[in-house]
Amino acid sequence: MKILAIGDVIGKPGRDAVKQFLPGLINEYGVKLVIANGENSAHGIGITVNTARDLIDAGVDVITTGNHVWAQRDIMNHLDGELPVIRPLNFPPGAPGCGYRISNNVLVVNLIGRIFVGQYDCPFRAMDSLLSTLDPMPKIIVVDFHAEATSEKVALGRYLDGRVSAVYGTHTHIGTTDSHILPNGTAYVTDIGMVGPMDSIIGDDVDNVLTSFLVGLPHRLSVGKGFCAFDAILLDIDDETGKAESIERIRREET
Ligand SMILES: [Fe+2]
Ligand SMILES: [Fe+2]
Repeated sequence: MKILAIGDVIGKPGRDAVKQFLPGLINEYGVKLVIANGENSAHGIGITVNTARDLIDAGVDVITTGNHVWAQRDIMNHLDGELPVIRPLNFPPGAPGCGYRISNNVLVVNLIGRIFVGQYDCPFRAMDSLLSTLDPMPKIIVVDFHAEATSEKVALGRYLDGRVSAVYGTHTHIGTTDSHILPNGTAYVTDIGMVGPMDSIIGDDVDNVLTSFLVGLPHRLSVGKGFCAFDAILLDIDDETGKAESIERIRREET
């Protein structure tokens, strides 16, 4: 089964790039499930019902999120089943929404890291708990690990190797070159990257972010300029065993 996973989508330019590239990729590769990280889809920070619908209309089946999921509060009341939007599984008990979703017989799980990201429950044990309780368990399991530290991401990949079909990273907005299949058959990449403007600092306006670094003043996150890059990974997973056959990096750029 071919699954396309798309990195953090940044604001309207990112959503427009998804609309531009996704239908062609679905056709070209025979993609059966599309996952995208939508935590930056509203003005570069957070997600709303409208930006989620934009991605769904473009062909996205499941939207994962991360540390910015509550930045636009209107999404809070729409996370319980109405929209295929999930938030990290290891958020504290009582948080709205759900940390996983089954779509097209694939279990998609969202986890969040703790190093340089925030105070969350243990992502390793949260995943253990889900794997030991969910019944029936789909053969194909894909994990979006929304985390900052490369060490934590590789560690989770190794921890879940052979127990899930794929572990991929989001959150840094910078793609890494280490896509490969781990020894026990789990596809892995430390970060997919982003769908967002390249005249930016990880998707945000250059001057605003530089001012924040140079002067220390708080800044409003605002979306960068120019053409968008579209970063994704294409997974091919064996339907019978749930093991990964291949992981391939996909990159498109607007002209
Ligand atoms: Fe992000
Ligand atoms: Fe993030």
